[in-house]
Amino acid sequence: MLKSGRPAFHHFCRPGALALMAFVVTDSCIACKYTDCVSVCPMDCFVEGPNFLVIDPDGCIDCSMCVPECPVGAIYHDIDLPEHQRHFSELNATLAKHPGWKPITQVQSPLPGYEQWRHAEDKLAMLKTETS
Ligand code: SF4
Ligand code: F3S
Repeated sequence: MLKSGRPAFHHFCRPGALALMAFVVTDSCIACKYTDCVSVCPMDCFVEGPNFLVIDPDGCIDCSMCVPECPVGAIYHDIDLPEHQRHFSELNATLAKHPGWKPITQVQSPLPGYEQWRHAEDKLAMLKTETS
C-alpha cells in the first residue's frame, strides 16, 4: 500500500488494464505551473510546455508521490480522473511527445499571474502548446 492509501499495483500488472495508465496533470496546472511536482518524481517524467506540465505515461510508475506536492490538486491517477477531465489523459500522452516540449526536473517559479488563475476552472482554452 502506498502512502496515499492506493494499492501498490502497476498498470502492467493489472488484468484488463489499458496499456497507458499513469498519473495525469489536469486543468488546474494551466497558467499556474508551480512545478513543485517535478522535485519528487523518481522517474523524471514531467514534460514542460509554455504554460502547462504533463506526465509522460511511458515513464510514470504510479508511485503517486507527485500528487500531494501540487498546491492546486492538478494531478490525478488516470482511473480517478473526474469525468470532465478525462480528455487530459490523452492530452498528457500527446504533449509529452511534442517536439517543442522538454523534460523538467528542477523546480521553477510559478508563472506570472498564477495567483489570479489558481482557482479558475475550465482553463483548457488558455493552454499554449507551441513553444515558438
Ligand atoms: Fe512521477 Fe510517481 Fe508522479 Fe508518476 S506518479 S509522475 S512516477 S512522481
Ligand atoms: Fe502544475 Fe501542480 Fe506541477 S500546478 S507544475 S502539476 S505542482
